[in-house]
Amino acid sequence: MTDHYAVFGNPIAHSRSPRIHAMFAAQTGQVLDYQARLAPLDGFAAALHDFIVNGGRGANVTVPFKLEAHALATQLTARAQAAGAVNTLSFDGNTILGDNTDGLGLVRDLTQNHHCELKARRILLLGAGGAARGVLEPLLDQSPALLFIANRTLHKAQLLAVAAKNSATCIEASSLEALAGHSFDVIINATSSGLGAVDASPFDSVSPAPTGEFFYDMMYGRETAFMRHARASGARVADGLGMLVEQAAEAFYVWREVRPDTAPVLAAIRTELNHQQQ
Ligand code: ATR
Repeated sequence: MTDHYAVFGNPIAHSRSPRIHAMFAAQTGQVLDYQARLAPLDGFAAALHDFIVNGGRGANVTVPFKLEAHALATQLTARAQAAGAVNTLSFDGNTILGDNTDGLGLVRDLTQNHHCELKARRILLLGAGGAARGVLEPLLDQSPALLFIANRTLHKAQLLAVAAKNSATCIEASSLEALAGHSFDVIINATSSGLGAVDASPFDSVSPAPTGEFFYDMMYGRETAFMRHARASGARVADGLGMLVEQAAEAFYVWREVRPDTAPVLAAIRTELNHQQQ
């Protein structure tokens, strides 16, 4: 019997998740089917219900449905509660279990794939929306010396810093402009600045821009203004493709209790992406 999984989003056509999970399944000998499903913007709950009654075992959820998935879940894991959003659902009888593997995906990509140590380091997290909130706890779990949250709208960064106040890590919040002249070890872009019609960098209004050893953009698929800026400064730079593969691997583990080897899958997806861009 084939178990059915899906990723729900809008848009969803360019999702790499079906390809990633097909490779995980082939590699681990798991018999499953994983498809991309476009849900109408006002029809996520109905699409999910339809999938569940037709035997769906689990689902990933992407933009813009992660908050709705959090609300629809009948149970939440601790990490989904902390993230305030759900990217992984498991269905068992009447239970809809909501989980979030995004933060772990980021931390694994940084620490294991890029060998970027986070413990006792000074981290700058750019952005205070859903993407930033989703990775906050897993970053703090790594015991950095400092987590500096900077956002275009200062009060949102302050709210996020207050929510994380129980950690032993020093947590600070600031506007983007106030970053001028600061230096960090690791700089993570969790803003959506690269998504608009104009590819902006969060540092466009910051002079001089903060410096860092390692710059990470959660976006993937093209070189963003943030990444170009980082490269020009001579720093190490990474996009978010590894985070995508690592969050998928953790979802696969949640569903199948088997941990796939991410390295060959990440290499294959990277090659495919490069071919498409040529
Ligand atoms: P997501 O779920 O991707 O985090 P979001 O919740 O809408 O999306 O949050 C988008 C984040 O990107 C916010 O932190 C936003 O800053 P504001 O809170 O000031 O809106 C940030 N952002 C979007 N465009 C940006 C830009 N051009 N420069 C800097 N920050 C930007």
